[in-house]
Amino acid sequence: MKRVLSGIQPSGQLTIGNYIGAMQNFVKLQHDHECFFMIVDLHAITVAQEPAALHEQSEQVAALYLAAGIDPNKAAIFMQSHVPQHAELGWLMTTISYMGELERMTQFKDKSEGKDSVGAGLFVYPALMAADILIYNADLIPVGDDQKQHLELTRDLANRFNHRFGDFFTVPQPYIPEVGARIMSLDDASKKMSKSSAVAGSLIALLDDPAVIRKKISRAKTDMEAVVKYDPINKPEISNLMSIYAHTSDLSIAEIEAKYDGQMYGPFKKDLAEQVASFIEPLQARYHEVRKSGELHDVLKSGAERAQAAAQQTLDEVKRRMGFVMPR
Ligand code: TYM
Repeated sequence: MKRVLSGIQPSGQLTIGNYIGAMQNFVKLQHDHECFFMIVDLHAITVAQEPAALHEQSEQVAALYLAAGIDPNKAAIFMQSHVPQHAELGWLMTTISYMGELERMTQFKDKSEGKDSVGAGLFVYPALMAADILIYNADLIPVGDDQKQHLELTRDLANRFNHRFGDFFTVPQPYIPEVGARIMSLDDASKKMSKSSAVAGSLIALLDDPAVIRKKISRAKTDMEAVVKYDPINKPEISNLMSIYAHTSDLSIAEIEAKYDGQMYGPFKKDLAEQVASFIEPLQARYHEVRKSGELHDVLKSGAERAQAAAQQTLDEVKRRMGFVMPR
């Protein structure tokens, strides 16, 4: 059975972009793959986090995994920091990474742009992410489009290690949705929808009140042409809304185009708002049930145990190959 691994940072309110780009595929892949899904708290602290917010957001992401339909009997769900092997392999991966390749990472460039001082953790972030993946010898990595470059680096590091220390790591493949791999901001279709955005109207949070979601969709930017047609280059705003529609309903992009043929944006946006609200309401109901039930910490404990067993095996073999004296 192929192995799947992915993670989401608890660094803000999860958005519908995180769901469409990543979580929806976590749910899909769990049925016929061995899956590991983390809450990457060690990555979140590469930018300053207020401790109480980090704590709450970490539990939120874990509860949203369950609410979205990830089954803890199928997939290991765990906090990255509960499996300390990640940090240890992260260090080993840092030592085989080059400054130049880390400097080229667009996420690093974006997050450090215009800052007087930049945390070193942000710089070595991709080496830890490579460790997250390689420690399970994962085959498939479900992510959105913005993680492609990090995955390319992970593949380079896997190949570099294999070349230096003998074939060992599986070289992973990204698993990216065809439509919706990059959900854009509602107010500016040149920017991706981001959970760390300061503009509330730019994003649909999975835990937004449905009334707020309806309002945000009705105010979302569109073009002047008023034709519901999927054309991400020339009509990025409406194409983005169509991607959201397709992923929260069972209609394809072609079916949405046909449904709104000859209509203006008003009816389309109204239906989209209802569609998203009716998708989000049951998700939120399950989320609140999970938070109330107290099951979360048991799930995280057993997830971490499963993950640790697999991770320790890899780490031992990596250290042995690199020449470390192993305890006897
Ligand atoms: P993060 O927390 O920024 O995002 C989590 C996942 O959501 C996807 N995503 C999007 N997809 C479509 N449209 C958007 N607007 C959008 N915004 C975010 C991301 O691509 C991602 O898949 N570095 C990772 C976390 C990570 C990780 C890993 C992922 C750490 N270790 C190992 C995979 C494997 C990140 O910052 O994701």
